[in-house]
Amino acid sequence: MEKETYWSHFAADFEKRNSYVIGKPDLGLAKAKVARQQDLGRVLELGCGNGTYSELIAPRTDCVLATDFSDEMVCVAKKKLKNFCNVRVEKRNCLETGYEDNSFDTVLMVNLLHIIPDPRSALEEAGRVLKPGGRIMVLSFTTAGMTLRNKLTMIFRYLRAYGKPPENNRHIDPKSMRDLLLRAGFAVEESTLIGQRCKAVWATGVYMDCQTCIQKITTRKAGSPGE
Ligand SMILES: C[S@@+](CC[C@H](N)C(=O)[O-])C[C@H]1O[C@@H](n2cnc3c(N)ncnc32)[C@H](O)[C@@H]1O
Repeated sequence: MEKETYWSHFAADFEKRNSYVIGKPDLGLAKAKVARQQDLGRVLELGCGNGTYSELIAPRTDCVLATDFSDEMVCVAKKKLKNFCNVRVEKRNCLETGYEDNSFDTVLMVNLLHIIPDPRSALEEAGRVLKPGGRIMVLSFTTAGMTLRNKLTMIFRYLRAYGKPPENNRHIDPKSMRDLLLRAGFAVEESTLIGQRCKAVWATGVYMDCQTCIQKITTRKAGSPGE
């Protein structure tokens, strides 16, 4: 399998670097947002990094499969999550996870879609493994909605912590996130900015496979004879 070469270098102290770039208050708000989600059922996290977000949701889910493409991140996440009997950590590529169709209730992606070359394919893969009506939760830090001063400060801190950004780094805002989700077959529940000085796009959606869409349309038509 191909090797991840950018984030792997930062696996040992990823959380410390991230906290320096984003700042504790806004990182705390992002974590709290994820931690508040309920009724998640069987969860797949794609691009889990060192396991921060799987750790947050583990106490309130049936089970979590935390996955990442980097051997080093998988190793750190395994150590971090070893005390949760409902969490498993595996090396997987988010574009081709190899999991069965319709096998998860929720897919979580944190800080993944803006750093990969093909976010739409990753979302389609999420749709494939989600049960019809399953939920996607996406969080991605962004410069959207930040003041110029806060933007420049964050970019400076990013360069100090990580150096040059990965090649495929892209700007995502609530509108482009909404469009990405819609094109991959999700009905978008929300796509919004959270955070104070540093911002993140938070979006959730429900996967609608063709069958579910047809059923919904049929039910709607049956209920409104005027249409
Ligand atoms: C910015 S880090 C975010 C880590 C974690 N989600 C967080 O926010 O703390 C991006 C992560 O995505 C992983 N990644 C990059 N490309 C991937 C791919 N194709 N499949 C799965 N994981 C990938 C990297 O190894 C890295 O751990």
